[in-house]
Amino acid sequence: MKAPLCKLADIPGSGAARIDFFGREALVYKVGGQPRTVVNTCTHLGGPLELNNGQLVCAWHGARFDAASGDVVSGPRGTCAHALVVPTRVEDGVLTYVYGE
Ligand code: FES
Repeated sequence: MKAPLCKLADIPGSGAARIDFFGREALVYKVGGQPRTVVNTCTHLGGPLELNNGQLVCAWHGARFDAASGDVVSGPRGTCAHALVVPTRVEDGVLTYVYGE
């Protein structure tokens, strides 16, 4: 399965952009120049995440996730130790969701 998410040019050089990911909000941003896509839902109780100094920080109870890997750095984690990092690749300048390929 593949689905276009956004143009690579629409991902900011710093900070994150918000995109639709099959009806849910996702954050797209760059780490070391490489695009990352993470579903904007904390694994603790579903709070929103903000990109801050290389980490995704939950506004509700302060969980912190590594922005590159999605791994929990600190704070409550709920049942999963990673933020939901979406598998992607760039095809013809478009950030593309890829699954099962
Ligand atoms: S919902 Fe994110 S830390 Fe609790």
